[in-house]
Amino acid sequence: MNSDEKYMRMCFRLAKRGKGKVAPNPLVGCVVLDKQGNIVSKGYHKKYGGNHAERDALLKLKNNEAEGGTIYVNLEPCSHFGKTPPCVDLIIEHKLKRVVVGMKDVNPKVDGITKLQKAGITVDFILTSEAEFLNRVFIKNMTQKLPYVVLKTAATLDGKIASFEGDSKWITSSEARSEVYKMRKDFDCIMTTSNTVIADNPTMEHKFKCILDKDLRTDKNAKIYQQGKIYVAAKENTPLENDRLDIRAVLAELYRQGIYSVFIECGGTFAGTILKEGLIDEVYQFIAPKILNDNKGLSCFNGDDVSKISDCIKLDIYEHKKIGADILLKMRLIKK
Ligand SMILES: NC(=O)c1ccc[n+]([C@@H]2O[C@H](COP(=O)([O-])OP(=O)(O)OC[C@H]3O[C@@H](n4cnc5c(N)ncnc54)[C@H](OP(=O)(O)O)[C@@H]3O)[C@@H](O)[C@H]2O)c1
Repeated sequence: MNSDEKYMRMCFRLAKRGKGKVAPNPLVGCVVLDKQGNIVSKGYHKKYGGNHAERDALLKLKNNEAEGGTIYVNLEPCSHFGKTPPCVDLIIEHKLKRVVVGMKDVNPKVDGITKLQKAGITVDFILTSEAEFLNRVFIKNMTQKLPYVVLKTAATLDGKIASFEGDSKWITSSEARSEVYKMRKDFDCIMTTSNTVIADNPTMEHKFKCILDKDLRTDKNAKIYQQGKIYVAAKENTPLENDRLDIRAVLAELYRQGIYSVFIECGGTFAGTILKEGLIDEVYQFIAPKILNDNKGLSCFNGDDVSKISDCIKLDIYEHKKIGADILLKMRLIKK
């Protein structure tokens, strides 16, 4: 690993400290070197509305330690007045010679690169795809005005989520189920369906839950309604498409309500539909080392009849780990 990569990865680690506190802003970390190559400051974006990472790092400097040095930051420095003044101006003021950036900002208001280059500062890009992966939620929010969507499923080795009689407790180990409780906290909202609420009566503890229930079939005394803020999408408040709730419209409404990430827990019918509609960004799949071995069992993805393997929906595994007796795969959809 060369030193540019080393310092950019340090930026990624610093940026991650802002997780859960900066949305809808991006995760940003920053490292400043003097002209001899020694680290003289570090910073990161700590909370929404707070100082950007570059400002956090540069304001810690007492004199002109950074003059002629290099600043590493995983996102293009801003050039506009937002909640804080432009970081580019501060970089120019501190007479840095070189700026190493992870990715260009997708916010159309930002054009920091041009301003830096006009001031005679060298700008280099490095580890761009990793920088984009770190800020995938921000990129989706900013470019599509929709929340980032992760679908979670837990299935047997043969892809079953319940027996033909609807028995589903428990497919995975208690350790895997505890992991799900923790995962939920990383998202602004849990989304589930009428069928799942009726079949399982889950609690799904969370501060914000969205239930898809076109005809208001769920019982308001069900456990899911007993805690957190609930948004029920029904035909009264949501447009229909082919007589079903228009999920893109539901997601757009959630975004309008300040929901930037959604964790879906549902059965195979809804999972199959939204995958087909291209509304999913990632799948978290728990696989239990069990085989139901019954064709009538419920499958975790129930789309249409598909005749060719080449028509499979393809995913890229970016993380895998063993949890209790089970395996967790975290995967990104490969968009066509
Ligand atoms: N293993 C797991 O990870 C897991 C997680 C959750 C549930 N489950 C199991 O899944 C089973 C239920 O599965 P399921 O397939 O019957 O139900 P499901 O996929 O959870 O829900 C299907 C329902 O979602 C609603 N929906 C809303 N908008 C839709 C759209 N655009 N397209 C499709 N559906 C839409 C429809 O109900 P409305 O018409 O009422 O809106 C539809 O009937 C249960 O047995 C449960 O135990 C397993």
